[in-house]
Amino acid sequence: MESTGEKSERTERVYVFVCKGDSCSKRGTPDRLRVAIKQVLRDFPAQSVKLSFVSCLSMCGEGPNVLICKGGTAFHRCSGPEAGAVAEEVREILERPDP
Ligand code: FES
Repeated sequence: MESTGEKSERTERVYVFVCKGDSCSKRGTPDRLRVAIKQVLRDFPAQSVKLSFVSCLSMCGEGPNVLICKGGTAFHRCSGPEAGAVAEEVREILERPDP
């Protein structure tokens, strides 16, 4: 029997998202940027920082873009039924007052 994504946890990891989308790639030097970001992050503990490449960050006009986020809720072993819990988490974040 498949498990679903009912388990979630808070994470304090820092995520670095480097856009590799068409617009960002056309505006910059994507390979050089990716290598440079990898190099500067390699001294950080792998369990503290995660580098990911994404297809678009919806900031195309300002690219090439790198987005850094810390923490959040991770849902594991997702298969679809947990979408409601994901939506609820998004709603809570959007409605949270600014610090
Ligand atoms: S292509 Fe990079 S933000 Fe859209």
